[in-house]
Amino acid sequence: MRIDKFLSNMGIASRTESSKAARQGGILVNGVAVKGADVHIDPDKDEVIFCGRKIEYRKYTYILMNKPDGVVSATEDGKDKTVIDLLPEELQKLNLFPCGRLDKHTLGLVMLTDNGDLAHRLLSPKHHVKKKYFFESKFPLTDEEIKYLEAGATLEDGYITKPAEIELCADKKSGYITLVEGKYHQIKRMLESVNNKITYLERVTFGPLVLDESLARGEWRFLTKNEIEQLETYK
Ligand code: URA
Repeated sequence: MRIDKFLSNMGIASRTESSKAARQGGILVNGVAVKGADVHIDPDKDEVIFCGRKIEYRKYTYILMNKPDGVVSATEDGKDKTVIDLLPEELQKLNLFPCGRLDKHTLGLVMLTDNGDLAHRLLSPKHHVKKKYFFESKFPLTDEEIKYLEAGATLEDGYITKPAEIELCADKKSGYITLVEGKYHQIKRMLESVNNKITYLERVTFGPLVLDESLARGEWRFLTKNEIEQLETYK
């Protein structure tokens, strides 16, 4: 791969910036300054230093974010801040997108990637990726309501939800709900089907990924190798 392509794919520098840096001796490959940005490298083997910074190659980028309130999980929005806006400029240049949507006022785990095949597989209804949410509701939930919501609630448009799991806290107004699907406003609509209302919603898992407690709202980190492997092999 040409070094200018490598650097632009990683969001580090445009082709023009790479040419300029190469002319100024700012790009080292295995410790040696390259004369032009058209030099070919093996991204898996060669060590690249751009303006003093070691650049690790990633074929795809995978990010775990703790979404704050009021931010939309989309790539662009005319009105609101998006999850992409929370990333540094370098990552904003990549074609990252959120793998699945959370509502504007839902908090918690969002995975972003530029690996379309993987995202497509994880989001396909065939895959039943489990997603667990912590919720708070306006009114306590009864045992009958829990049974009904777990077995499959009928939403206002007639859709019957797939079986869900609910673990209720002692106050009966909060707990965890695990879904294997992701219909529009699903949990809100499920609670509405029993004349209740969601007052707080936070996603805590997505398939094998668990919300990282060390990430404050709005913070993100790259997925670990192990997390990527788990996603790739998730059944
Ligand atoms: N269900 C909802 O109602 N909202 C979300 O953001 C996710 C699941």
